[in-house]
Amino acid sequence: MLSKITFSRFLTFLTALLVATTLLFYLFFSQTKSHIITNFEQTGLEEVSEVSKNITDYLLRMQDEVTLYHALYQDKKHQVALEEFLSTFQTHKIKNIFVVDKPEHDAVLFRVLLDGGKEKGDKFHFEELFEPENRLWHEVLLTREPKVIYQKDNIEALWATFLYPMIQNDGSVAILALDFSKEHYQKVLSSLRGLEIFLQRMVLFLLLIFGILIVVIRMDIKREQQKMDAQKALEQLNLTLEERIRDEVEKNRQKDRQLIQQSRLASMGEMISMIAHQWRQPLSAISSSVEGLRVKLALKKFDETLFEDKLCDVNGYVQHLSQTIDDFRQFFKESKAKNSVTLERIVERVLGIVHDSLHHKQIDVVLDLQAHVTFMTYSNELMHVLLNLIKNSEDVLMDNDVVYPWIKIATYANETELVLEVSDNGGGIQPEVMERIFEPYFSTKEMKDGTGLGLYMSKKMIEEHCGGKLLVSNNTQGAVFTLLFSR
Ligand SMILES: Nc1ncnc2c1ncn2[C@@H]1O[C@H](COP(=O)(O)OP(=O)(O)OP(=O)(O)O)[C@@H](O)[C@H]1O
Ligand SMILES: [Mg+2]
Repeated sequence: MLSKITFSRFLTFLTALLVATTLLFYLFFSQTKSHIITNFEQTGLEEVSEVSKNITDYLLRMQDEVTLYHALYQDKKHQVALEEFLSTFQTHKIKNIFVVDKPEHDAVLFRVLLDGGKEKGDKFHFEELFEPENRLWHEVLLTREPKVIYQKDNIEALWATFLYPMIQNDGSVAILALDFSKEHYQKVLSSLRGLEIFLQRMVLFLLLIFGILIVVIRMDIKREQQKMDAQKALEQLNLTLEERIRDEVEKNRQKDRQLIQQSRLASMGEMISMIAHQWRQPLSAISSSVEGLRVKLALKKFDETLFEDKLCDVNGYVQHLSQTIDDFRQFFKESKAKNSVTLERIVERVLGIVHDSLHHKQIDVVLDLQAHVTFMTYSNELMHVLLNLIKNSEDVLMDNDVVYPWIKIATYANETELVLEVSDNGGGIQPEVMERIFEPYFSTKEMKDGTGLGLYMSKKMIEEHCGGKLLVSNNTQGAVFTLLFSR
């Protein structure tokens, strides 16, 4: 992330450097360009000036005392010879060469003396008058300084007129005019201009790229910053989230424990009445045994074997009572660790608590125990679940006044699973009840103060704690609850 920002900054710096260099180069080029132009023009003019001076010198050397006009006026041949001479200077660089003067000092029109043009039809003839368009013609005569008249710039046909003063006898002044080509100069100029335009565009293009780069990089940096912030926030959230999840899980566990306890306590009332049933028979048996012995004692009939038998019976009953109490106490203990047990042992212990109560209510308990496989589980929780299922069956059998009520408890094992099935002939579960049967606080026993926690807690204990499955279905006679454990 950092290296990306550094790289972006480096890129911006590089582009800025490139823009600055191109800008400097452009400025340097502009200066050089104007130097080149002036020098080139200077050299061109010097060249033309040199040629003009040589021609002028030659023309003036040819006449001694007379003015050029008079010499030409007098001698037609001389005129032709000089025009021939002038025409020899005509090249692709120099076009028209001609000599003019003014008939009077203040005349407006000029007078042609010689025309070195080669084409006869186009030629000025001697003494032909013409009016120059430019004031510079007059100025050359006045200042006696050479001047250049530039034509309108046109890349293809570029000509300028060079006016060179011819001073003769300190007074009479004529002008040697020659049209010279500026084509070379213009070619250089247009190349330089092309280069200049290219450089300008390059600077503009680089500036544009630079601008775009700055915008993109700023956006990128902003985005990276946001990403970093979001990541930080996420990390922070993750840290607190872990803590929060741990807290929530702990709270949930706490709640589950409370619910288990609540549902145990709810079963307690039932169980006390079951125990009362369970104790009634042994207690009355003890009482009648003790009463029998007392009668024998009163009649002084000490039969040692009878006494021993009766005491043995009493001991048996007391053992039974003690066993019931143990089972009851066991039930209220929270299982701390898994222990090894068989489904049959669980069934036996639960029946130890409920059997007499069911018998009292004339509910048959049908057993079909075939699993006999030891496995590891939380026995107390499994006992609690079985007790819930038996209690639910008992409730439905009683509520529906079933004529021959029974509860069937079956166990069996296959290759992969251990199965415990509790079914009854109470008539089954209605579809709308079936859908919600495992929801907490769902009960159809308002009259009997049902908590609606029995099956919810049973499912939780079996599936989340003991690692098994609790399923429900109906058969033709009633409900079937199935507990599955993998072997
Ligand atoms: N064997 C069954 N036959 C028909 N309906 C049943 C059977 N077992 C449970 N039910 C239905 O499922 C409902 C929920 O049972 P659950 O054990 O969760 O709560 P409860 O028995 O109503 O209340 P509590 O368990 O506190 O006595 C019961 O109210 C009953 O309608
Ligand atoms: Mg119940």
